[in-house]
Amino acid sequence: MLTPNLKEARIRTKNKVSVKEHEYILNDNLKTLGKDKKYYIKTYGCQMNEHDTENIKAILEDMSFLETDSMDEADLILLNTCAIRENAHNKVFGYLGRIKHLKMTKPNLIVGMCGCMAQEESVVDEILNKYKWLDIVFGTHNIHNLPNILNTSIAQKSLEVEVLSIEGDVLENIPVKRENKYKAWVNIMYGCDKFCTYCIVPYTRGKQRSREPKYIIDEVKKLVNDGYLEITLLGQNVNAYGKDLNINYNMANLLEDVAKTGIKRIRFVTSHPWDFTDEMIDIISKHDNIMPYIHLPLQSGSTKILKLMGRRYTKDMYIALFNKIKNKIPNVSITTDIIVGFPNETEEDFSETLEVVNTCKFDSAFTFIFSPRIGTPAHRMKDDIKLEEKEQRLHKLNELINKYSKEANLKYLDKIVPVLIEGISEKDENMLVGYTDTMKLVNVKANKEYIGKIINVKITEVKTWSMNGIIEEG
Ligand code: SAH
Ligand code: SF4
Ligand code: F3S
Repeated sequence: MLTPNLKEARIRTKNKVSVKEHEYILNDNLKTLGKDKKYYIKTYGCQMNEHDTENIKAILEDMSFLETDSMDEADLILLNTCAIRENAHNKVFGYLGRIKHLKMTKPNLIVGMCGCMAQEESVVDEILNKYKWLDIVFGTHNIHNLPNILNTSIAQKSLEVEVLSIEGDVLENIPVKRENKYKAWVNIMYGCDKFCTYCIVPYTRGKQRSREPKYIIDEVKKLVNDGYLEITLLGQNVNAYGKDLNINYNMANLLEDVAKTGIKRIRFVTSHPWDFTDEMIDIISKHDNIMPYIHLPLQSGSTKILKLMGRRYTKDMYIALFNKIKNKIPNVSITTDIIVGFPNETEEDFSETLEVVNTCKFDSAFTFIFSPRIGTPAHRMKDDIKLEEKEQRLHKLNELINKYSKEANLKYLDKIVPVLIEGISEKDENMLVGYTDTMKLVNVKANKEYIGKIINVKITEVKTWSMNGIIEEG
């Protein structure tokens, strides 16, 4: 048993990160461990977790497990969890309650938890106390060892916990089963060293480790060969890419090299305002295949609160960067993340957030009420704002955000825009769905033959969160 340790998770050394190409080894005897068995995975959280799930699926299928989308049919249920806010945490424990009933009727059912909650010392303590009936718990640094963890648990009929609290390595050659045939996630870095005072990620994902450029470029070239049209470069802080490599190669260089592979669409998330360089802005505006879409989390519009959050930019610095991006990248859409109710946020601080929203008029935003996370500095900050007050702030903010989303979308009415058609609408089988270069969701009345193609669409109707359109012939 290897349980997580908060103190160790906090450690950052100057040790060089090792790149390991052969960490994933599947012994012959494990290749049939999942024969005639089905797995079901439920994924919470960010794109990084979604992509981890793609790795986990490939590993399970290497062991002959087959995927099912019905939890009731499964022989193995895995929850790939997120620790970012309390409600994510509650959802998982609520779900485990449901699974326990299933386990009582199916004693051979294997149940596991992985992802960021598995990295939390308090969560694993709770599992060891109250959820001993689980079979496996493994962390974000242990995915490659899943076959052995599973094998031990099955052989010994015991709860296997394997969660390393380390800075982390970079593992290459982990198999992947991609969910989508046209667009793919590509990790460019792991972990985070920013330690924003509210955030759990630096503890659950380890230190910032950039992948070496050659692995990234090779992966993208292969995706181009396999017919992929779009890639999203993933990292908690993609703009800081390369800083830890000591090879004088940065995010602007990477974007340029990825653009040269000829992939049709390049996106990247998430951009921390702190590391956004002019060089990056130039490269984005120069290459047609780097999409004019930037997610630029603001978090708060109050310089006082930003300081308490450890974000290292001021309100004015954010607005200046925002304007620079808007002016230099034609037609760019910018979205953001905002937290309300951070400890010490006064009505005045909150009105500064509204003011920045009024200035920037974001294309859209994810908004959250501050959620204290065990082990982070903000958890210990005195917080005397009532929940009711926080909810009112969130509501007021959302109304403003929605107003500007609709306004931003209205600019598209009667315009012709390129849309990558991904599939059939879940709501209407005669409609197809896809995204514009600027990441707007569009429903298109068109024939199925357009799925997997980038086509010109004329926007005929605009709503707050989506648009409708028709194919523009010719
Ligand atoms: N790396 C990204 C953020 C990843 S987490 C960045 O730095 O921008 C996604 C979003 O969740 C954050 O932008 C933040 O708005 C929100 N978030 C993170 N921790 C939170 C917490 N403790 N309470 C409420 N929201 C939080
Ligand atoms: Fe969390 Fe800040 Fe790192 Fe983003 S940059 S993952 S908010 S610590
Ligand atoms: Fe959640 Fe972990 Fe992502 S905490 S947001 S799944 S990095």
